[in-house]
Amino acid sequence: MTTAEAGTVYLVGSGPGDPDLLTVKARDLLESADVVLHDRLPGPEILDRIPEGNAEDVGKRAHSDKRTSQAEINERLVEYAREGKSVVRLKGGDPFVFGRGGEEAEYLAAHEIAFEVVPGVTSPVAAPGVAGIPVTHRDHASSVTFVTGHEDPTKPESSVDWAALADAGGTIVVLMGVTRLPEYTAALVEAGMDPETPVALVSRGTRPNQAVATGTLDTIVDARDEAGIEPPAVTVIGGVAGVRDELEAFLR
Ligand SMILES: C[S@@+](CC[C@H](N)C(=O)[O-])C[C@H]1O[C@@H](n2cnc3c(N)ncnc32)[C@H](O)[C@@H]1O
Repeated sequence: MTTAEAGTVYLVGSGPGDPDLLTVKARDLLESADVVLHDRLPGPEILDRIPEGNAEDVGKRAHSDKRTSQAEINERLVEYAREGKSVVRLKGGDPFVFGRGGEEAEYLAAHEIAFEVVPGVTSPVAAPGVAGIPVTHRDHASSVTFVTGHEDPTKPESSVDWAALADAGGTIVVLMGVTRLPEYTAALVEAGMDPETPVALVSRGTRPNQAVATGTLDTIVDARDEAGIEPPAVTVIGGVAGVRDELEAFLR
């Protein structure tokens, strides 16, 4: 049993949403910390485990659409720890995969605050997995790249090199990529990837309302619209996305 220690910050991953995929350590810390800073991504079943009065939603301000800025979150983590509180910063999935956990860890270290990283089951592996898509497979892919779909690939300042990804030949898993699906699938085809490459979208993976849409680079945008896929979702691009077809009938 882990008990949260005074003056320490825990950067904790909550997994992809199924409360049974919360680690034992994460559960113990949620229940024992003085304060838990969170957003909505962990989902209601997990947030309900936080004892009354200890939860602080830093995703959206109450009665406002404005989000608490990263600078404010960093500062609050330091303040609480200096007050001698035990603090959990809870993130969906894993805190170091597109979770800004790295920035928070740097800030804590710079302010001489003790912290611990508690990894979580990350969605770019777990959501495809429960949908019958192994992100690597000896017949299809010996590498996998996690990439943000948030940026516009047609903008020169985009930090994602879609042409290099098209060349690399492994599995591509796009996070935060529901809206820009048309742009980056087109960018991959433009860069020479076969338009028939299998693609799957897995929305709310591991949650009761999980939804999956499948197709190819050419057809996935229509499949997304037909299935009404909404965030949070991951896009899996590559031969592994086709493995689901063999497994689907026996998937529970
Ligand atoms: C800000 S990132 C956080 C990722 C998280 N730290 C992780 O390790 O899974 C949010 C994105 O994660 C993905 N995501 C998180 N939970 C998911 C789930 N249950 N099913 C599918 N995608 C999910 C979506 O792409 C979503 O837009």
